[in-house]
Parts: sequence; structure tokens; C-alpha cells
Amino acid sequence: MNSKVFIICVTIFAKVSVASVARKTSATNVQPIEEENDYARVLELSLLFYEAQRSGKLPADNRIPWRGDSALNDRGLNGEDLTGGYYDAADFVKFGFTMASTTTLLAWGAVSWPEAYAAAGQLDEIRTTVKWATDYFIKCHVNETTFYGQVGDFTMDHTFWGRPEDLNTSRPAFKIDAEHPGSDLAGETAAALAAASLLFKDSNPEYSAMCLQHSKELYQFANDHRGLYHEAIKGAAQYYESTDYGDELAWSAAWLFKATNNSRYLEEAEYHYQHFYLKERPNEFFFNKKVAGVQVLLAQLTQQRDYQNSAKNFCDFSVRFQKRTPKGLIYIDKFGTLCHAANIAFVCLQAADSPGIGDPQEYRDFAKQQISYMLGGGGRSYVVGWGRNPPTQPHHAASSCPDKPASCGWSELYRKSPNPQTLYGALVSGPDEIDKFHDHREDYIYTDVTLDYNAGFTSALSGLLQLRVKAIT
Ligand SMILES: *[C@@H]1O[C@H](CO)[C@@H](O)[C@H](O)[C@H]1NC(C)=O
Ligand SMILES: *[C@@H]1O[C@H](CO)[C@@H](O)[C@H](O)[C@H]1NC(C)=O
Ligand SMILES: *[C@@H]1O[C@H](CO)[C@@H](O)[C@H](O)[C@H]1NC(C)=O
Repeated sequence: MNSKVFIICVTIFAKVSVASVARKTSATNVQPIEEENDYARVLELSLLFYEAQRSGKLPADNRIPWRGDSALNDRGLNGEDLTGGYYDAADFVKFGFTMASTTTLLAWGAVSWPEAYAAAGQLDEIRTTVKWATDYFIKCHVNETTFYGQVGDFTMDHTFWGRPEDLNTSRPAFKIDAEHPGSDLAGETAAALAAASLLFKDSNPEYSAMCLQHSKELYQFANDHRGLYHEAIKGAAQYYESTDYGDELAWSAAWLFKATNNSRYLEEAEYHYQHFYLKERPNEFFFNKKVAGVQVLLAQLTQQRDYQNSAKNFCDFSVRFQKRTPKGLIYIDKFGTLCHAANIAFVCLQAADSPGIGDPQEYRDFAKQQISYMLGGGGRSYVVGWGRNPPTQPHHAASSCPDKPASCGWSELYRKSPNPQTLYGALVSGPDEIDKFHDHREDYIYTDVTLDYNAGFTSALSGLLQLRVKAIT
């Protein structure tokens, strides 16, 4: 362990949360399993993962010792400043669509369960995490009908493996506008900014109002100019295709109703819901399919039977009948296996908080079991830097590099040893359908990490922590 990593460990372990102090002092004989499921600590680590993904000029209080300023020349087609935001994954593309859906999910958790964040000592941290994204979205929204949805080109970016601080590829910016619209991208960003406006309502009212203004304009743009963003931003299709925009239109309108209480937005959300047939039970909840989120959110906002039944159908199906691995993990896809399970855990924790949707205890037990699998209950931890036998070779360029001034390049991808930097809090893609996992950096099917993978996971942790906090007090 080198000295820089040691310093950050000390910092993290010194900040023991109120909740874990309460538990540690009350329990005379702390079971390892209880430690393993320390939601407060993992929540804290998960936010550190987001910190490690920051692009742009880092503030003086940056907690990731192996990260520095990067991509300071990111610009729009007319020279607009597009620095900031988050790198998507192992690579260094700034990818608007999943950055936005990540932000919406993070903000939804924090808006719903602030007591959990307070108990974990992470209220400031979650606000900072969300604001790092929303500051960037606001920069990208250069006028009412122009929004930059991607900085960096996948093909060019993928010729580079190393530290973001050493990036030397050119980083073109890609936009949607009235002639080349993207209702999915603009809609999801509107949802993220509406959710953020709720998060900042008390702590930073001016900023909250600014988020809300951009959210309204982006929703209007999404609604008035219909289209799929990957037709405007062609390179995106290969990685994060969006096959529909009806869910993002309903999602953003519902979020705007939650943020404004203006019935016009509820009417539009309900209209989109009917028009795009969002009543049907989806198979999953992820960046390209927000239907389950729309159903649960509308059930929460309206208490109407229709939405409650749809949300119940989704959660009952997922909990009782969805395919599982032998050890009980929900299995939907080999990419982001754990992300899919965590997203469902999260959205069904939301459902459990809303009256009239199924059996809350069943959904909460399910969420607890899925998250416990990820933290070690499945035989090993899938969170970098946490618990027993965690992944040591996440598919992640920056953390695969040794300390400066040693050089870093493609040989670091193939090196058969742990990443020299610990990417604390990153949830890896996960095991296969028979619970097998390969901790190899180049096996990205298992070891990939992305903004998106940690999002529902973070919020599910906050939901589970909230239940503990409420049980304690
Ligand atoms: C909006 O911004 C784009 C990109 O900078 C620019 O080309 C366009 O002229 C602007 N439109 C308006 C109405 O200001
Ligand atoms: C970028 O850096 C890499 C590694 O240092 C080097 O091999 C490559 O030639 C550089 N590319 C450009 C365009 O400067
Ligand atoms: C939202 O609007 C409804 C009906 O117009 C009203 O009863 C309710 O108090 C409002 N809530 C808030 C938080 O403004």
C-alpha cells in the first residue's frame, strides 16, 4: 500500500458515521455480516467513486490523491466552455445520456431519504456529487434548443489507455438541436435537473431555481422537437442506444410536476403515459427503459390505482419470477448484472414507501437481499475496496496507472496484478448467471465500472439505511 492510498484510508475510516457509531456501541458482539452490510460506509465509498470520475478543474478539497485536473480544453462548436462533468467509465468520454440518468437516480434517493444521508454524514457529499453533474449540464445547455450531449469521440478515445491527466486525443463535442433533436437525452436531462432542483431547494435556493429553469426549457425542447438522440449523435448508438423517448418524456414531465406542483406537467406526464403505452410491465429498469420508474413516481404523485397496479406488477414480477442466479441474484443481462439488480432494488424500495403498491415488507426484504449479495453475501464483495475478497482489477484506466511520474499505457490494461490505485466504492459489472466472476481487468464483462452501474446502487443503499435509521430512532 503506498502512502497516498494510506492517507485516504485513514480519512475514510476516521469519518465514522452516526449510524455506525450507534450500532457499534450498542452491539456488544458485532457479527461480521453486520459489518459487511454497513450501508453508511458503502454509501460514502460509492460517492468517492463518483469523485474519482470527475473531469475538469478539481477543487482544492479533492479527496482522490491520484487524480488531478484534466480535459481543460473541452469546448463546444462555438468555443463554449464544456469543462467539468464526469467521465463515463474506464474511458474518458463525457456521455450526457447516462450521466443524466445517473444524476436523476442519485437525486431521487437523496430527495426521498435525506435522514439516511444525514446519518451517514454524507449530505454535503451527495449534494456535491449531483452538482458536479448539473453544473456541467447547465454549461452544455447553451441556448433553449441546443444541448451538448457528448464530449469526446469513442473511436478516438479508445486509442488511449492511461491517466485522464495525460489525455492527448482531440475531444470533439456533439449536440442536439431543433433540426437534430433528441427527446430522450433532453428529457432525461430535464428530469435530472428537476430532481436536483428539489435536492437544492433548501440548501441553495438560487441554484435550485436555476436548475428548474433549465429543466423546463429542456423538457419543452424534448417535447416540441421529437427524435432519438443517437440519430444526431451517431457515435452514441454503439454504446448507449436509446430505443424510445416516450419514457423520458413522461419521466421528465412527472419530475417537473414533483418539482413545481404545476398541474400542467402532471397532465402532460399522464398524456405521454397513455400515448406511449407505458402501462405495460417492463422486464427491467435501466437507462434505456425508465418505465418502471415512471410508474412508481406517478403512483407516488397521484395515489391512483392504475399506476399503483402497474408498479405492483413490476415489483411482484421482479421479486417473485425474474430469473435468478443459483445464489439468488436477479439476472437480467451479462452487462451490468449488478446494476440491473440494484436498480430494481431501488425502484421497489421507492414502491414500498408509497401506499397501495404490493407488500412493502416483501420489497424491502428483496432489496436487502440483493444489496447484501453485492456487499459479500454472495461469497465475495463486488465493491472495490470493500469487504471480503473485493474486486482488485476493475476495468478502469486511471486507477490502473501507477503513481506519477511512472508512465502509463496499454500494458497497464493487460498487467495481471491489482490496480495500483484503489477505486473505492465502484460496483463492478458483476458475476455471470451461475455466480462466477473473473477479477481480470481486461474481462470487462465482469469488471467494468460506469457512472450508471453505481447509481441505483447508491440510492438503494440510502433507502436501506433509511429503514435502519428509522428503526433506531
Ligand atoms: C444556439 O447555440 C448554437 C451553438 O452554439 C448556435 O449555433 C446557435 O446559433 C444558437 N442559437 C440561438 C438561437 O442563439
Ligand atoms: C498520445 O500519447 C501517447 C502515449 O504517451 C503517444 O503514444 C501518442 O503518440 C500520443 N498521441 C498524440 C496524438 O500526441
Ligand atoms: C400542490 O397543489 C395542490 C393542488 O393544487 C395543493 O393542494 C398542494 O398543497 C400543493 N402542494 C404544494 C407542496 O405546493
